[in-house]
Amino acid sequence: MYTLGKKLRFSLFGKSHGPCVGCVLEGVPQGTPIDMESLAHDMALRKPSKGIGTDRVEADKVDVICGIEDGKADGNAIILEIANGNVDDSKYLPFEETPRPGHADLPALLALPKFDIRGGGQFSGRLTAAIVAAGGIARQMLAAKGIVIGSFCRSIGNVEDCDERGIEDAKRSEGFPTRACTPELDAMMSDCIMAARKDMDSVGGVVECIVTGLPIGFGGIWFDSLDAELAHAVFGIPACKGVEFGKGFDITRMRGSESNDAYRMKDGRIVTKTNNMGGVVGGMSDGADLVFRAAFKPTPSIGAKQETVDLKTCEDAELEIKGRHDPCIAPRAASVVEAVTALVLADQMERGL
Ligand SMILES: Cc1cc2nc3c(=O)[nH]c(=O)nc-3n(C[C@H](O)[C@H](O)[C@H](O)COP(=O)(O)O)c2cc1C
Repeated sequence: MYTLGKKLRFSLFGKSHGPCVGCVLEGVPQGTPIDMESLAHDMALRKPSKGIGTDRVEADKVDVICGIEDGKADGNAIILEIANGNVDDSKYLPFEETPRPGHADLPALLALPKFDIRGGGQFSGRLTAAIVAAGGIARQMLAAKGIVIGSFCRSIGNVEDCDERGIEDAKRSEGFPTRACTPELDAMMSDCIMAARKDMDSVGGVVECIVTGLPIGFGGIWFDSLDAELAHAVFGIPACKGVEFGKGFDITRMRGSESNDAYRMKDGRIVTKTNNMGGVVGGMSDGADLVFRAAFKPTPSIGAKQETVDLKTCEDAELEIKGRHDPCIAPRAASVVEAVTALVLADQMERGL
């Protein structure tokens, strides 16, 4: 199992074409209310959208094996399972000889004994269903303390949303297949994805995550810091190639007089005038919204012809991928980014950081 967290411990298991994917969530305090309808809402947001997503559509019903009784955590480990149904093994077997560039096939075949390559095995985005399910519980723990998480697509391919966005925009994006903030951007991002699909190709995208309601001082220092633990978890999501907080890499082009977020008093509370730091200083919340972005690469499995090698003959080879794939990962990854954020923040909350 692959584990995240110290007090709220999340462990992930399963593979793409096995019977199920699932998780064990330890450390949810006894009596914590868990609303399965809200969990189903989170699961629906991870599903592929017609046209711009993969044709592999799963029911994604979350089965509670144990740990939740009468709508409340019973204090034991919570085990959740999500059945795999819509699988097609045939398209994946060629990758055992001719690994897909950009996917995990080559290192996995060489490093992992008995690696089951069907659907990408344990490297599949399919496992993110279990992350979203457990993240839904963590999200509810945080919401009870007034901490709210949202996300949206800041860019898809070369289509970029250049406006300043807040939590309401992020929540509004749930109504658009691309997770854009406006209908106009949704149409442009959708066109970009469809154009890539038509060319048997794929595009990348940037997911922006916003968290409101963190009190000043929430988080830890050094390796327990809010940004360090979040970056660690977000980089664990397949296809994530970058994480930046606030102004991120662009902050290097500012002067300190411009980048420092000035403090002001507003209605008896300390607030920051700007939010270049993304709400984190010293590893802890400065009370501003926590804002970070995660970069997702173009989906590695594309229909266009690619160069690879034949592992049996040790010769150069060509590969044409036939399976069902997302032409862009970012819109579905948004709910996964929110889920790992919820798991990290709820763990830090339980640790009293
Ligand atoms: C929600 C989600 C869906 C994904 N769907 C696909 C897909 O359809 N086809 C594919 O090749 N990769 C897909 N991926 C990405 C691969 O799982 C990932 O690129 C691969 O495991 C290699 O890991 P890396 O990109 O982190 O190096 C998806 C990832 C996520 C998060």
